[in-house]
Amino acid sequence: MGIIMSNASHQKYEEKTFPLNEHKQPSYIRVQQSLHLDGEVELSGAKNAAMVNLLSLILTQGKSIIRNVPASDDVCNIMELLKTLGAVVCYDQELHVAQIDTTHLEGTYVSADLMKKTRASILALGPLLARFKKAHLAFPGGDVIGARPLDYHIKNLEKMGVVFIENGDEIIASTEQLIHRNLLLEYPSVGATENLVMAATLTEGVTRIINAALEPEVFDFLDQLKKMGAQIEIEVPMTIKVTGVKILKPVDYELMYDRLEAGSLLLAGAITGGYISLPQAPAHMMGLFLMKLQEVGHTVLIGKNGTGVKIKATKNPRAVDIKTAPYPGFPTDLQAPFMAMLSLARGKSLVKEAVFEHRLMHGRELIKMGAQIEIPQYDAAVIYGVDTLYGSTVIASDIRASCALVLAGLAACGTTKVIGINHWKRGYEFLEKKLQSVGAVIDLFEE
Ligand code: UD1
Repeated sequence: MGIIMSNASHQKYEEKTFPLNEHKQPSYIRVQQSLHLDGEVELSGAKNAAMVNLLSLILTQGKSIIRNVPASDDVCNIMELLKTLGAVVCYDQELHVAQIDTTHLEGTYVSADLMKKTRASILALGPLLARFKKAHLAFPGGDVIGARPLDYHIKNLEKMGVVFIENGDEIIASTEQLIHRNLLLEYPSVGATENLVMAATLTEGVTRIINAALEPEVFDFLDQLKKMGAQIEIEVPMTIKVTGVKILKPVDYELMYDRLEAGSLLLAGAITGGYISLPQAPAHMMGLFLMKLQEVGHTVLIGKNGTGVKIKATKNPRAVDIKTAPYPGFPTDLQAPFMAMLSLARGKSLVKEAVFEHRLMHGRELIKMGAQIEIPQYDAAVIYGVDTLYGSTVIASDIRASCALVLAGLAACGTTKVIGINHWKRGYEFLEKKLQSVGAVIDLFEE
């Protein structure tokens, strides 16, 4: 099935260059009960891979082509950031191809305004230090899902010889020369792993990142760097070994499909008692999540070679327990939409959020819709499945909460109004159009 990728609120850009995000932002999502979603959906490229892979181009000089780049606002903000550093950026939203020329990159300053829009902008730190030996950034914004400190990034870059000066809301990082080291992460942070790998690629000698994050998006990023000429190996169990090289070359690279968008769409099928097919879904990277869907009672079919997933929802979903963890554990980014589904599953489910400390705020909003949820601790929720949810006005606190509330709205009687549309658009590329294409009644509105 084809998906039309433009509408009044998400216009196609007439010029295939920047500036992006100029259109007015609609201010809420209206969702009406839409049971039994049915059909096949095309996935977008992975947002979390796109942002770091684009920023890693700071490490090279020349024209690179990145394919399968999703047009979510977070990704567009990262392309805007590259542009302010002096890159020539040309993005064809229809073809999902970004051409980035970093030959004349010279800036090392990113304005607070840009940094606040997207947390991943902090991933400019590692490559700017590697290429220019300095970076002047503000503390990043993004989802408010916990303290989200940068101590693992900063401590380890200090070990590599970087000096940080904190100036109010800004940090100025500089080094005479990056030094190879053995770096140990207290926790396998995705962002810290990516920043340190980028800093190490052009650093003479062998840098090891021990207890590194090994999420699928990190592998996609490592694959691109290797194609650019980086020398990277994985040492068992969780170490990334980077042997510095003198230069990295421009690249033509196609990003992986978005496993988190895939999970969200499967949950849309599950919560509406429907059938959804995702031929491009990287099922081999979604193991525990798919297993939990089966435990609930849904039928999950995986395509040959681990690509493609179909879900046929059960009429009698059962409660299950989930606990988020670094990959290959249950992804924290699918916890919120999974909780929405559990709010209609028979029995008592436990949800433990062990990655971010404030990522259960959607629970309170689901309660407004009739869900029976207790949140006895900041990191755990108990869900007693109910028969019916009711449309309500609810507030999305982050990207994945916006998805959870939209999914709940699809199953709820009546109409749901989700405030916080900026999160939705930051995280997903026209997901509302994709849902419409399988029968959902969902629209983005300006008040
Ligand atoms: C990335 C993903 C995000 C996902 C998360 C966990 C991107 C753009 N975003 O976010 O979608 O939810 O991984 O899979 O890829 N921490 C520290 N100190 C640090 C860094 C992290 O304490 O210096 C903590 C965080 O507060 C959090 C945990 O480590 O509790 C994991 O964070 P991290 O893996 O760094 O997440 P992000 O890279 O921000």
